[in-house]
Amino acid sequence: MSDKSDRRRRGFWRSTWFFVLFVVPLAVFAVGSLFWAGGSALLAYTESNEYCTSCHELAPVVDEYHDSVHFRSASGVRAGCADCHVPNEFWPSVLDHAHALEELYRHFDGTIATPELFEENRLRLARQVWHDMETSNSRECRSCHVPDAFDFAAQRPEARTAMEPLAEEHGGNCITCHRGLVHALPDMEAAAAEEEAARMAELSGGGEGPLADTMAVLETASFSLAAGSGAADAQVFPGSLVSVLGTEGDAVHVRLDGWQQQGAERVMYALAGHRILTASLQPPAQQALQTGESQTLALTGQTWTEISLEGWLPRALLTAEIDELWAYAGETYRAACSVCHTVHPPDQFMANQWVGQMQAMRDRTTVTPEQYRLILRYLQMNARDVAGNVAGDAGSEGGEAAGAH
Ligand code: HEC
Ligand code: HEC
Ligand code: HEC
Ligand code: HEC
Ligand code: HEC
Repeated sequence: MSDKSDRRRRGFWRSTWFFVLFVVPLAVFAVGSLFWAGGSALLAYTESNEYCTSCHELAPVVDEYHDSVHFRSASGVRAGCADCHVPNEFWPSVLDHAHALEELYRHFDGTIATPELFEENRLRLARQVWHDMETSNSRECRSCHVPDAFDFAAQRPEARTAMEPLAEEHGGNCITCHRGLVHALPDMEAAAAEEEAARMAELSGGGEGPLADTMAVLETASFSLAAGSGAADAQVFPGSLVSVLGTEGDAVHVRLDGWQQQGAERVMYALAGHRILTASLQPPAQQALQTGESQTLALTGQTWTEISLEGWLPRALLTAEIDELWAYAGETYRAACSVCHTVHPPDQFMANQWVGQMQAMRDRTTVTPEQYRLILRYLQMNARDVAGNVAGDAGSEGGEAAGAH
């Protein structure tokens, strides 16, 4: 009996059942674990600073990082490249590793192979990162900076004023305010100038765009009293409207309408009582002015006189697409002025107050001087004491059209 059962037992050890029930799963498990371990080791390696710097060390991003508090600080907590740039969650991380394949391709393509090439591409790359972080609501920052854990009272006063109001939104979207935190910012001024030049060329139709009865000035333009004289008898500022009387070659014969304040004869303003600059006038232009009715404003006692002036402007600095120009002004305003706080609606202030408000913000923004003038006019034309007397809401061009007469 015992012999038989022994044999049966040995039979089992050699049987197919044994193979199916134990050997296969074990083998699968062993091989699987090997791959798993190898896979996570590989994954871990691809999230190490060594891996990232193996490609990025030529570019200044790594040195900049070494100088930042995210690399070395009093508390000794270090954020690695991947902590900010590679998601922790499974699916976003899979997507990110797929995206890494593109980096691999670009690596061999040499897109950022030298520091010079890197700088040329820096704005594009930074925008990609900003876009990702804006979309993810700065998810990676939040893996360390748990917004509920902010002790606002312990923050520096500058930090507290900006950040405490955001408590309800769990700190807001960090990247909208904390750009250039670890790495140097791209050359934002150059980027703004480039973008402006492209938009202006588009709006002027390369100097051959359509003409219309009323056109807008794109950039600060030299105005001549006589055709072809080349004299700069006046400077006309962006956003000002002109009535078109005729053309000759590259020049357009125009009439400027506006207002003059007694005692400030050098300046043409868009509206009586409002310091909205249309043009600055040299003595010959001051002599050539046609004057209309005068009014004395009850509030200030100032006398304002309606004036107009005929002369010539370069066609390349005029556009018939006035709506497009105001749309551009509005976009530029929102992009440049929403970085640190929500944008202030244009009708929050009066036209004259916007002059000082913009001056106070001048050094904080990266707009070009021409964009600055255009934004200022946009805000003033839609200001509380101007928008009220014209149709339309903030940003409407109706305000401009009505205001220029
Ligand atoms: C095989 C080389 C290589 C490795 C390794 C590498 N990168 Fe890159 N990385 C590149 C190249 C090339 C680009 C530029 C891609 C382009 O031109 O669009 C880039 C772009 C970037 C950008 C900006 C563009 C974007 O879409 O985010 C970031 C951020 C970045 N890398 C971070 C990292 C981090 C973090 C690591 C480590 C986890 C890493 N890289 C590893 C080659 C590499
Ligand atoms: C791996 C964790 C980690 C991640 C991820 C991280 N941080 Fe930090 N951050 C820290 C630590 C730790 C400090 C404090 C260093 C110290 O002791 O001063 C810090 C400091 C800061 C400071 C103060 C800087 C200064 O110059 O004093 C700001 C602002 C900040 N982080 C914003 C961010 C933003 C925005 C992100 C996402 C892009 C981010 N952090 C991602 C850990 C992290
Ligand atoms: C509305 C703009 C804004 C937003 C959004 C914002 N911050 Fe700040 N934060 C600031 C300003 C301004 C400061 C002070 C100047 C500085 O250090 O850059 C600051 C300072 C800090 C500091 C340093 C605190 C101190 O006392 O030194 C940390 C850390 C920080 N922010 C992290 C974050 C994180 C993380 C987020 C996203 C959850 C975030 N911030 C969102 C504007 C903002
Ligand atoms: C604390 C978070 C943080 C850490 C750590 C960090 N970065 Fe960044 N990185 C950013 C942010 C934010 C941007 C977007 C540009 C900006 O605001 O400066 C960025 C942009 C970049 C870019 C695009 C080019 C540029 O200059 O904007 C590259 C490439 C890059 N990082 C690579 C790295 C590498 C490599 C490391 C590690 C050596 C690293 N980063 C560490 C937050 C971080
Ligand atoms: C770099 C950050 C930053 C940028 C960019 C910025 N601002 Fe400000 N702004 C602030 C801070 C901080 C305050 C409050 C403290 C102060 O007045 O200095 C403020 C205050 C203001 C106020 C005053 C609000 C009131 O109730 O009195 C106005 C208006 C304003 N900003 C408009 C703008 C405009 C317009 C732009 C774009 C041209 C702009 N800001 C861009 C940081 C910024």
